Amino acid sequence: MISQKMEQALNDQIKNELYSAYLYLSMAQYFHSLSLKGFANWMEVQAKEEQAHAEKFISYVNDAGGRVVLQAIDQPPSEFESARQIFEETLKHERFVTGKINELVTLAISENDHATNTMLMWFVTEQVEEEATADEFLQQIKLVGDKGHGILMLDRELGARTFVPPTTN
Ligand SMILES: [Fe+2]
Ligand SMILES: [Fe+2]
Repeated sequence: MISQKMEQALNDQIKNELYSAYLYLSMAQYFHSLSLKGFANWMEVQAKEEQAHAEKFISYVNDAGGRVVLQAIDQPPSEFESARQIFEETLKHERFVTGKINELVTLAISENDHATNTMLMWFVTEQVEEEATADEFLQQIKLVGDKGHGILMLDRELGARTFVPPTTN
């Protein structure tokens, strides 16, 4: 059984994950407007992953005897400057989410809530991956520049990404 404070914090995180999905879906629309279908695909897959993260938290709160209360999701930005700016924003956003996961871990430890702490370890590892991936593409975009052949090459690569549901444990 989770504490009320933990229940609230996990409900806040469900909103953060759903906002992430919304943000990446919005970024996908920008790429569609530029006919960069590969970048759009990558962002759509990213949005599905974030939705899956939210579902993982939702299942946990229910299993742990808490009550899920869905919150309003903010409107994400719809105007972006370039692929480079989008990946800068993505990296910034993932660092923000990492901070939120770390805050949850700190709360779980302070409450001796071992079950929640164990569940959160999956997200701690996942965030390392999320930041690394965003940074990798940002560096590649910096290398090839925002315009020209390089971007089309990256677009092909990003178009190959498919959604793989996260593991259940
Ligand atoms: Fe996430
Ligand atoms: Fe993420």
